Amino acid sequence: MIHKCLFPVAGYGTRFLPATKSMPKEMLPIVNKPLVQYGVEEAIEAGMTTCAMVTGRGKRSIADHFDISYELEHQISGTGKEVYLDSIRNVLDKGIFTMVRQREMKGLGHAILTGEALIGSDPFGVVLSDDLCLNDGPGVLAQMAELYRQFRCSIVAIQEVPPEEVNKYGVIAGESLKDGLYRVDKMVEKPDPKDAPSNLAIIGRYILTPDIFDILRETPPGANGEVQLTDALQTQAQQGCVMAYRFQGRRFDCGSVPGFVEATNFVYENHYRRD
Ligand code: UTP
Repeated sequence: MIHKCLFPVAGYGTRFLPATKSMPKEMLPIVNKPLVQYGVEEAIEAGMTTCAMVTGRGKRSIADHFDISYELEHQISGTGKEVYLDSIRNVLDKGIFTMVRQREMKGLGHAILTGEALIGSDPFGVVLSDDLCLNDGPGVLAQMAELYRQFRCSIVAIQEVPPEEVNKYGVIAGESLKDGLYRVDKMVEKPDPKDAPSNLAIIGRYILTPDIFDILRETPPGANGEVQLTDALQTQAQQGCVMAYRFQGRRFDCGSVPGFVEATNFVYENHYRRD
């Protein structure tokens, strides 16, 4: 029912400098696969086969990754090395990739608004690829798409975090409808731990209804002078319908060095095909 997924991949990735000085953070590999490909695989699994990328300067390698490399294909055609292309060929067979450039990096909210041209007027998923989400059963976006079918409103994925870490996240408060599902009535971006409404932190998976674009257009820059998606979602929540969902699975903050190392070890131990 939701066919499109937006990938804001224009950020600077300052927490991972100098690696990200000339290389997109989203192309950092977890073992042998770039972060953004994990996100695309999760979206395709959820039925969101149109992957809309909001890119920026210095991010051309992301567009190249989701395209054929003729020389490479020719070089390894018919050899035992073709197996290494299996996962990306599978993604290219199933997905459609569209791109738009964010010319000024004015924050996640601004990146999402830039993606409007690719999304149009349907509900859509959002993946922040530096949050790697893994689950043995259905992926996080597939879980959220299932919830969307029931509630028809924006959904944010949440995770409990230690209270002293809430200042790194958008944080929600709301009415608990059942275990792990909340109707949101308040959202705050990067609150001081003593003012935080809860320790339920928003992570990088969303389903958004398209009215978010009009709200974002009217949203003034907030924390750090950036247009914050959380502020626009807070407006949507006040209008009635934002759900927060504590997903099944593990999430790794691969935009930070410790999270990246943890994810690498986890994937190597649990998912890497050693052949
Ligand atoms: P982050 O807050 O992780 O920012 O953005 P960042 O610049 O990528 O990383 P740090 O904090 O400097 O290390 C969350 C997501 O939003 C995208 C990023 O690419 C990331 O996926 N983003 C952010 C944009 O696409 N455009 C922006 O203007 C800001």
